[in-house]
Amino acid sequence: MEVDREPRRELLNLVRSLKQRVQMDGELGRSLSYLTRRKINVADRGAAVNPAEAAAPAAETPLSGIVSHLEEVRLDLGDCRRCLLHRTRHRLVFGEGNPKADLVFVGEAPGADEDAQGRPFVGRAGQLLTKIIEAMGLKREEVYICNILKCRPPGNRNPEPDEIASCEPFLIRQLEAIHPRAICALGTFAAHTLLKSEAPISVLRGRFHSYQEIPLMPTYHPAYLLRNSGAKKQVWEDVQMIMKELKK
Ligand code: URA
Repeated sequence: MEVDREPRRELLNLVRSLKQRVQMDGELGRSLSYLTRRKINVADRGAAVNPAEAAAPAAETPLSGIVSHLEEVRLDLGDCRRCLLHRTRHRLVFGEGNPKADLVFVGEAPGADEDAQGRPFVGRAGQLLTKIIEAMGLKREEVYICNILKCRPPGNRNPEPDEIASCEPFLIRQLEAIHPRAICALGTFAAHTLLKSEAPISVLRGRFHSYQEIPLMPTYHPAYLLRNSGAKKQVWEDVQMIMKELKK
């Protein structure tokens, strides 16, 4: 019995690591070519599959240093089990976008759609966020989008303090790696976590605060806007201030 279970556990661990690698490479926009079948000639055994690739120096892009910094954060996060949310999540949602973004949006936590796809802000609130970004004259791929929590709280309940405490070091490192020119905190949890304030979002919004000397604008969460369309005017005022800041 024991003999049968060990290889099974090892296989499960291997599958888990492969899933994690594929997810991470996808998030970082790296090639997933290792998932495709390749024909290997007997003559190639022991040599690189594509000698031309092996001979060519790794392509250097101007982003490489920054991507590797973010990549390091993603690697350290791994298949995170630091809090209990790992038990109920389907996919960990690290964040996505331009690793060299001038503007980072920080939301609360993944919802059901994000949990299913492993990507931030892809549900109804996400579609509204995309519209806001486009109304700012930007493309979604130009900014970076992430959350305070990387895993979905069951039933979309509010994040617990211990969950925020486990996840926050990774958000801090993401923001350090990207070092944007402005941050937009979406909703109460993002504003409270980043600003260490407990003031209502209605009081915090409408003016810049400072996060590690980076201008931070708190505004209403897009999910709140879906229920309270009257607040769209204030969000538009807030994002216009961000646009002005980015033009400086
Ligand atoms: N709400 C959030 O705060 N984050 C998401 O990624 C989606 C919805």
